Amino acid sequence: MSARVLFAAGEALPFSKTGGLADVAYALPRALVRAGLDARVLTIAYRGALDRLRDARPLTELDVRGQRMRVWEGTVDDSGLRAWLLDHPPLYGRAGSPYVDEHGHEHGDNAWRFGCFSEAIAKLALGVNGVGWRPQLVHLNDWHTGLAALWLGRSAPRPATVFTIHNLAYQGVFARHEFDALGLPPEEWHPEAVEFYGGFSFMKAGLLRSDAITTVSPTYAQEIQTPTFGERLDGVLRVRAGMLRGIVNGIDAQTWNPAADPLLFQTYDGGTVDSGKRANKRGLQAQLGLEVSDARPLFGFIGRLAPQKGADLLLEVREAFARGGAQLALLGAGDRGLEEAFRAWASTAPDSVAVHVGYDETLAHRIEAGADFFMMPSRYEPCGLNQMYSQRYGTVPIVHRTGGLRDTVSDLTGILFDHADAGGVRYALSRAFELFAEPARLRAMSARGMARDFDWSVAARQYVELYEGLARPRA
Ligand code: ADP
Ligand code: GLC
Repeated sequence: MSARVLFAAGEALPFSKTGGLADVAYALPRALVRAGLDARVLTIAYRGALDRLRDARPLTELDVRGQRMRVWEGTVDDSGLRAWLLDHPPLYGRAGSPYVDEHGHEHGDNAWRFGCFSEAIAKLALGVNGVGWRPQLVHLNDWHTGLAALWLGRSAPRPATVFTIHNLAYQGVFARHEFDALGLPPEEWHPEAVEFYGGFSFMKAGLLRSDAITTVSPTYAQEIQTPTFGERLDGVLRVRAGMLRGIVNGIDAQTWNPAADPLLFQTYDGGTVDSGKRANKRGLQAQLGLEVSDARPLFGFIGRLAPQKGADLLLEVREAFARGGAQLALLGAGDRGLEEAFRAWASTAPDSVAVHVGYDETLAHRIEAGADFFMMPSRYEPCGLNQMYSQRYGTVPIVHRTGGLRDTVSDLTGILFDHADAGGVRYALSRAFELFAEPARLRAMSARGMARDFDWSVAARQYVELYEGLARPRA
């Protein structure tokens, strides 16, 4: 089939990125186009984004809550994927990231910003203002788009809707006056509707009002139906369990390809992995001011410094790192206290611990290639991308057995541990040290990881199958 699919997300490469959602909102629509679908991306024109839209031309103007907004159409890259960018500088053209200002504080009007985005998605999907192309299906992502499911659910005829949870912990919960300002129907203010513990929830709207729900791994799909991972929405998810399935993300195999990665010190493939990884390890150690040594196991960490990612557990096992003669290369930003604590650790052991606070694409690639092991002690992880990059780069991932980590790392390609606490990480480190002492075993594990296929086409096939069951006009 060549169904028309509108894929809407609050961040999407190459226009914006704060996390894995942006990677997915770029790579999945491309994979859908490759699978023969007529897919388009709809996202927001944050500051500077229009410069990255190729062949940009005005598509239409929309009235959203009394504001005149512009929509631009263009192409994303050579793949032929088209993008629509919602442009309204007073709301979206500010300094800072999509969700926070330059000081790291949430924009005070996020309910309004993403409420308007959601309404614009619904309007465009319904084909107002003479736009000829109308989707048969709208694929919504995370809370920023949740209210679009509500608006579409109240329209007829309408396209089918799929809502994907990338992270249930971020829900978009706001107060009653925001609900009123967004013109939401009063009957939606109800515990069985979008009311949520005294406020209202964009995420809950997405879960209740879409035709199907997905999340980014089968294990996370199960976990979020339990109180431990359910973020107070486990009850809703249990009721809607029949509509919910997990589909594991892929990785962008062009950007993350050790055989042709321009950011590496040396490229390599399965046949040259030994010398390639050695050169990248030495290059990374030298760049970061670590002792240049083949004999010391080098661990990498890349990610947001948030409780989810469990970086604090690495601080708790400092002595285990030291006893094993290990080195750590950490790249991340987020919690200011954690940033400081890691900097302090690095300053006491500069030969062994290198900490880079910030966002750095080049260093991320070099850590993936240069490290012997890659640490992901996430407390929960809906999917996670770095553990897949690691396997592709012949680096052994060390992961908490949860969510997408459990679904993408096996005992044959990585080290899994059961408890996201200091004891769990210590156990995993001791396994890593044993493995490092037996290079033949380490090499075999790394080779099995490199041989795995994480191509997006696998996920795209599952989405196409899901869409096929849904994509007919709803009366
Ligand atoms: P999440 O979306 O929860 O942050 P993912 O693993 O899905 O986690 O995606 C994170 C993405 O962001 C990966 O592509 C990762 O390499 C990248 N990333 C995270 N932090 C940094 C950083 N400080 N520098 C460079 N890339 C980063
Ligand atoms: C979220 C999750 C992460 C997932 C990403 C893309 O940010 O935290 O696990 O990989 O979305 O789906």
